[in-house]
Amino acid sequence: MILKVARLGHPAIRVPSEAIPAAAVKSRDFQRFLDDMTDTMREYEGVGLAANQVHEGLKAAVIEVREDASATRKTPAVPLTFLVNPEIVERSEEMEDGWEGCLSVPGLRGLVPRHLSVRVKALSREGEALDFRAEGFYARIIQHECDHLGGKVYLDRMDGLRTLCFTDEFERYGAPKK
Ligand code: NI
Repeated sequence: MILKVARLGHPAIRVPSEAIPAAAVKSRDFQRFLDDMTDTMREYEGVGLAANQVHEGLKAAVIEVREDASATRKTPAVPLTFLVNPEIVERSEEMEDGWEGCLSVPGLRGLVPRHLSVRVKALSREGEALDFRAEGFYARIIQHECDHLGGKVYLDRMDGLRTLCFTDEFERYGAPKK
């Protein structure tokens, strides 16, 4: 089922999410919710979605970079991944600027500095402990989604708003200079 996405200004976007009890991860309701998040992310052609973007204050995110999107962005594909109660436990010192958009801030994009690599602990949708490193665009998405779960959006991470622009103008006139 495709869920309604909250936009910036809806309080859900600014409220930090609550951890999900491990025992609840495999419940039918939560599993169905994860499927609905997946349907919603794919419907709106996102590469990630956090639960509070669909009005659930739970620490859960779904990420997927499909082959077609990865070719456009010249970045490796990421298989469908569920992160329950994710925590970034290590961050590289090295940062990298990259363009981000957000389904809760439709039509816009901006240049955002992110850690080049991160180490993440989370639960899988099966409730198993995950502990992995990610880098590049995948690390960027993880940071973007974990920010959502803490009530932050990418605009909060930008070095000023000079690069903020509409996607249509970006495609017409090219990337704005920093
Ligand atoms: Ni977003």
